[in-house]
Amino acid sequence: MPRLIPPRLRKAVLPVAGLGTRVLPGTKTTPKELLNVVDRPILSYIVEEAREAGIEHIVFVTGRSKGAIEDYFDHQIELEAQLLAKGKTDILEMMNAELASAGEMSFTRQMQPKGLGHAVWCARDIIGREPFAVLLPDVIVDGQPGALKQLLDAYADVGGNLIGVEAVPENETHKYGIVDPAGRDGRRITMKGMVEKPAKGTAPSNLSISGRYILQPEIFKILETQERGAGGEIQLTDGMIKLAKSQTFYGVEFEGERHDCGSKPGFLRANIAFGLQRPDLSEGLRAEMKRYLGE
Ligand code: G1P
Repeated sequence: MPRLIPPRLRKAVLPVAGLGTRVLPGTKTTPKELLNVVDRPILSYIVEEAREAGIEHIVFVTGRSKGAIEDYFDHQIELEAQLLAKGKTDILEMMNAELASAGEMSFTRQMQPKGLGHAVWCARDIIGREPFAVLLPDVIVDGQPGALKQLLDAYADVGGNLIGVEAVPENETHKYGIVDPAGRDGRRITMKGMVEKPAKGTAPSNLSISGRYILQPEIFKILETQERGAGGEIQLTDGMIKLAKSQTFYGVEFEGERHDCGSKPGFLRANIAFGLQRPDLSEGLRAEMKRYLGE
């Protein structure tokens, strides 16, 4: 029998309504997604990952005081004119690479912080009846290819729903959604279940749900009536647990380093890691770090 080709994945949801409480006070007026890692915002890395995976339309689920996100992907006419007049074409080129192409991005609002499941549900009309990706913008995965492309390669084989997973220390499992694995084929994991933020000592494994998803549109119907779960929030994981009763779910362990930029140590580490990769910065940065560390 010929293998069914899964429907093409064209759209991605980026929930960016989060309040950034872990990195306050800097995020009081600046969206955490626009904090710079080296010289471009966290969000720029996430959009790059989505585009690399062939995503054609990005839906941002925003909230109050997140207007700067929409502006970031648009022209800044005066600034561009100044740069052009001064012949700074290299910087202009970098800025142009960040722009949205016509119609590539939509913005919708989650008007109350009701949780990730509710944020994703807010994108339902723009996504419509097709599979879609979700990328949590706290997390930059430094992988070749990018994390979403790795998920997409698995999706081309098995279709259905897939989630990126990553092993975390046993004493940190309560901070994440955790999968209960049934078996493994290389980096692909079949699962018996999932649980959002298990109480300490109760996690079924140390494989965390790590911020990248490919989901089928039937999730929206479930999220519409999803009750509040861990932390009093409408959880995407709880919706996925229900969807897993009628559709396949696989975990995919990424190759690449994951930086949690929503935490202070993760954000600092991302800056060092990406700074050290930059030919124009690495030598100086290395020398400064040696000096600070007294080596
Ligand atoms: C969310 C998800 C959780 C996942 C985590 C990854 O939690 O609900 O399943 O493991 O992102 O970063 P949050 O960090 O928003 O509380």
